[in-house]
Amino acid sequence: MKTFSPSEIRRLNDSFDGQPPQDVLRSVMDMFGDRIALSSSLSIEDQTLTDMMLKLNPRARIFTLDTGRLFPETYALIDKTNLHYGIHIEMFVPQTEALQEMVNVHGINLFYESLEKRHLCCQVRKLEPLSRAFRMLDAWICGLRRSQSVTRGDMQLIEWDDRHGLLKINPLIAWSEEQTWDYIRTHEVPYNKLYDKGFPSIGCQPCTRAVPPGGDIRSGRWWWEDPQHRECGLHSRE
Ligand code: ADX
Ligand code: SF4
Repeated sequence: MKTFSPSEIRRLNDSFDGQPPQDVLRSVMDMFGDRIALSSSLSIEDQTLTDMMLKLNPRARIFTLDTGRLFPETYALIDKTNLHYGIHIEMFVPQTEALQEMVNVHGINLFYESLEKRHLCCQVRKLEPLSRAFRMLDAWICGLRRSQSVTRGDMQLIEWDDRHGLLKINPLIAWSEEQTWDYIRTHEVPYNKLYDKGFPSIGCQPCTRAVPPGGDIRSGRWWWEDPQHRECGLHSRE
């Protein structure tokens, strides 16, 4: 697998600067072929990227980490998206034994008890399955936007994901929430009905709640923790 030096990453970011997400996607999909995939949580950002990628290549790869604790609305959207585009989103699920041990030792809702236990749950339900997804990849595409949270303000379009050892591409990094909704509406892209019920950011059901109108979009995620901790490890850089 090719590694990218900081100067190569800088050059890539400079060359893509100001380009529309579709042009970035076309280039990286050409560059990596079937060794690149979208990691989708079925958010409006990921659904936008799904639509863009499938229009560029109907065989583009998309995968989801099915933690087993997603909302029924999210599972319904996985089916709806598969039907709408005639695709099969690849599903990665937690390893049975690790999951079984975790819930038997710590309980099914361990995440409310401490930050350590919350991280353990994210490790077992998301990060370990993600590491298996990465075995088939040299680059991953994510739906991160800088304006989503205090923890994402300095993220770049192209990053070397040092933690996982592969290239990370965030084609919507400079987009606003409004731009994303415009795309969803204009292109009639299926979206999670929870957005219409006050959920501006959607993860696992027990760790996500609705946000009052105008509230911080990620304030409903892991709401009982300090804002700087509200990442699950998928996008941590230390
Ligand atoms: S999280 O880290 O807090 O859960 P968020 O929900 O904002 O992340 O999603 C940011 C990006 O992480 C998504 O656009 C997607 O690329 C990836 N992601 C998050 N959750 C999942 C998931 N369950 N499966 C696949 N990718 C995910
Ligand atoms: Fe577990 Fe909550 Fe993390 Fe989902 S978001 S993996 S339920 S701690």
